[in-house]
Amino acid sequence: MDIKEVLKLADELVLAQTNKHLNNLQERILRGTWEDKDYQEIAQAVNLSEARVREVASDLWQIISKRLGEKVSKSNLRAAMERWQIALFSSNVAQYVRNSSVNFCGDNKHPQNLPTSHPPQQEPSSPQQTPTLPQDLSEMPELGAFYARTGELETLQTWILQERCRLVALTGISGIGKTALAAQLTQQIKNQFQYVLWHNLNSSPTPAELQEKLTELFSEPEDSNPSATNTRRLPLIKYLQKYRCLVILNEIHNLFSSGQHAGQYKPACEEYRALFKEIAESPHNSCFLLVGWEPPREVAQLKSPNSPIRTLTLTGLDPAASRQILRDSGLTEEQEWDALTDRYQGNPLWLKSVATLIEESGSRVTDFLQNDSIVLPEDVRDVCRLQFNRLSEREKSLMFVLAGESGPVSRDSLLEKGRIPSSELPNALQSLSRRCLIEKRDNLYTLLPVLRQYIKGL
Ligand SMILES: Nc1ncnc2c1ncn2[C@@H]1O[C@H](COP(=O)(O)OP(=O)(O)O)[C@@H](O)[C@H]1O
Ligand SMILES: [Mg+2]
Repeated sequence: MDIKEVLKLADELVLAQTNKHLNNLQERILRGTWEDKDYQEIAQAVNLSEARVREVASDLWQIISKRLGEKVSKSNLRAAMERWQIALFSSNVAQYVRNSSVNFCGDNKHPQNLPTSHPPQQEPSSPQQTPTLPQDLSEMPELGAFYARTGELETLQTWILQERCRLVALTGISGIGKTALAAQLTQQIKNQFQYVLWHNLNSSPTPAELQEKLTELFSEPEDSNPSATNTRRLPLIKYLQKYRCLVILNEIHNLFSSGQHAGQYKPACEEYRALFKEIAESPHNSCFLLVGWEPPREVAQLKSPNSPIRTLTLTGLDPAASRQILRDSGLTEEQEWDALTDRYQGNPLWLKSVATLIEESGSRVTDFLQNDSIVLPEDVRDVCRLQFNRLSEREKSLMFVLAGESGPVSRDSLLEKGRIPSSELPNALQSLSRRCLIEKRDNLYTLLPVLRQYIKGL
């Protein structure tokens, strides 16, 4: 078993016993125990007293013991969990869990129906089988400190839970907190769904590969027989209709081409257009949350208030949350923090990076505020480079014009200085704004200061 499987299994056990999911501390204790750390080391890692960690661990072992029907402690956790996993296979509990999945991820009204003791000596295990659980959040990042964003969380919850939106895009510049927000949201609403899957699109899988992964999670064991050549998996849309599913596709920009305007599919990913169209237009109660730097074009286009398709664009954190991030990073000179936040637009990744740079270079915050030029930490430069390199040539030339001006720039000025045909300007501006790289106010356009600094340095 690996740690992900252990955490998943432990989460089921704790949920079934207490009606609550594993909390962060319980999870850290399980991880530490799995890595053979002692309580003192775990306590140091979570910044709590050893006594507190022992107390929470003792409660956790009791919960798991009750569920497994054997005494479980730190010393025999590994053996007990492995026995339970084997027992799951042989006693077909996985099938049971699937059949009761309406409640498994939900309010779990019938935890008493779950098996209360493991039967390791019962039937022999079948090593080929793996328990099929209705959640796969193994690719979701761990939840860390998370500030503010209550309005955004409420909006997303309303769209997804009450208004039953089928396709929701969450966009914003790199580092602004999309992934963290999506993970918080998932944690808060996952119990409202029968199936939940978080998938990172790092490798731009083809639509067929993605559908395969999804249908594998959704299909009943009898739908597909791995030893038979003819599987009976249903088309993805059928599962989205049959169950209420939440699918989070993170890093969606990997599906889109570089050198083109925002949201244009790579040739190999072109079929996603039809897939997302079907998800958006067919009747079902499931939701796809698409998280990334830019939304697919067709999603960006359909923004009417009654449509089941929505886009939420994230901007920087408010000053209080930004201060918290700087505080967590161990920064001093608190009176200068608001000015620093202003320069880095409340982007949590940029704030963390600059705080680290100040600390590690032995600088003072005031050194970073002395003149108009903005210091770019190496990792901020890297993410700016990644985003800039994706732009079309027309977008790049507009970015150079905007970076060369000290204030906001009019459309006419952009036309003239960007040497771009007037018929092409609207598309290029729309694309830059979908990528959240420019801002428009009173018909004047500006560049985020960090990006201006980056482009000036090119
Ligand atoms: N609301 C928040 N409160 C505290 N930290 C945050 C918040 N949002 C994001 N972060 C942190 O900022 C960094 C960048 O966030 P991330 O979600 O990865 O950005 P994105 O997905 O938009 O590139 C991460 O370290 C994340 O933990
Ligand atoms: Mg992200």
